[in-house]
Amino acid sequence: MLRDGHMPIYEPTLEERVMRNVKEGRLRFTSSYADGLCDAEFAFIAVPTPTNHVNGGADLRYVEAAARSIAQVMPEGLIVVDKSTVPVGTGDRVRQIIEDSLPLPLRFAVVSNPEFLREGSAFADCMQPDRVVLGAAEAWALEAVAGLYRHLECPIIRTDLPTAEMIKYVANAMLATRISFMNEVAAICERVGADVRMVAAGVGTDRRIGRAFLDAGLGYGGSCFPKDVKALVQMGLDAGCEPEILQSVDRVNREVCYRAVSKLADTFGSLSGLTVGLWGLAFKPDTDDLREAPAVRIAQALLAAGAHVRAYDPKAMAAAREVLPEVAFTADAYSAAHLADAVILVTDWPEFSALDFATVKELMCCPVVIDGRNALDDRLLTSLGFIYRGMGCCSSAHVPAVQRRTRPEKVLEFVHAPEIETEVGVSLDGEVESTLEAA
Ligand code: UDX
Repeated sequence: MLRDGHMPIYEPTLEERVMRNVKEGRLRFTSSYADGLCDAEFAFIAVPTPTNHVNGGADLRYVEAAARSIAQVMPEGLIVVDKSTVPVGTGDRVRQIIEDSLPLPLRFAVVSNPEFLREGSAFADCMQPDRVVLGAAEAWALEAVAGLYRHLECPIIRTDLPTAEMIKYVANAMLATRISFMNEVAAICERVGADVRMVAAGVGTDRRIGRAFLDAGLGYGGSCFPKDVKALVQMGLDAGCEPEILQSVDRVNREVCYRAVSKLADTFGSLSGLTVGLWGLAFKPDTDDLREAPAVRIAQALLAAGAHVRAYDPKAMAAAREVLPEVAFTADAYSAAHLADAVILVTDWPEFSALDFATVKELMCCPVVIDGRNALDDRLLTSLGFIYRGMGCCSSAHVPAVQRRTRPEKVLEFVHAPEIETEVGVSLDGEVESTLEAA
């Protein structure tokens, strides 16, 4: 795919940047270790370290396989740089594997250089990092890797291998802790009638605390926070500690997305037979990644309770079709709301805040919006007659019970027909109408 110019993931501008570097001869792709390493000074290991489902720790199979493959073909003096997020001690294990697998003894070094890139803005994070962290036992190798980053304007933190490995886990676990903490605060705010959005603003202006990663919502997803918190818990348990805070961070996060489902149940009494539209499926905007995405758990819970689910995401629909075969996917956000009893905003893509909500209200059976990311203008929606419920910013005591509006006799079932690049409403008696006519 990469050789043909196709990116296996979506990130704004990624494809054009990769292709520019390929065209200008700075970047090429190979699946041969021998080809890639024949004259290399550095070999970066950047493979996944998914959760090991036996104990929740990190699965190191791919890192170990990469180390064995590197050892077969590596030149003298190679510096092996570990970018993957790995438990403390893995750098030493990589060194040992290479030593054991080398056909002939060679001089080499292992450096830990954890990455702090966010999906969706990885390129910018790479070029303007807050810091570069390097850990190694050999000073010559550490300085050589530091040289690669000399043009970046940021501090370079030099330390030993285990400390560098730990810094990565602690950075992710700290950010995840802030999110779970604010989700816990959000639940309390709802009960006592406070607004978590203003609480975040009020607390975040304290320079000792800062505003970042204080947004309550449906919890963190993605390929990093969930697995890294679990892996740090396991690392602590293996070391004889009881990481109680981290265990709670994980537990709060696993439960928080179901608050959106409970809000619907509170509002309607029962979920059975409801039609619910989901706005957004990816675990966050600017990516098509569905790993640990709250949308998947929410859709599954709604379906299990007997609701019908229709969903739209600007980028993650192809992946979602594989994971959620019972969901009806629509061509846009309006179609996801069409004849729905309620809509849940799951991913805060900017296009959802820019919708014409008067039209949305006309399309829906009941004007109920659960704003899972506190991304919408609650005053506007309320003034238009929506029943709006945010996360931690709308006291549950004041939410009126909702009577479902009777459905029109001619119920339209929406079919996504990519071959004609539009959404077609097919009525039960076989008539076909365009989305606009149906609306
Ligand atoms: C994260 C780290 O930020 C990055 O440094 C590391 O290298 C990889 O893991 P990423 O998973 O791409 O990056 O996404 P991030 O932007 O950190 O968001 C993670 C999740 O937290 C998302 O689901 C997001 O919706 C959620 N989140 C984030 C909140 O719920 N509230 C917030 O205030 C911030």
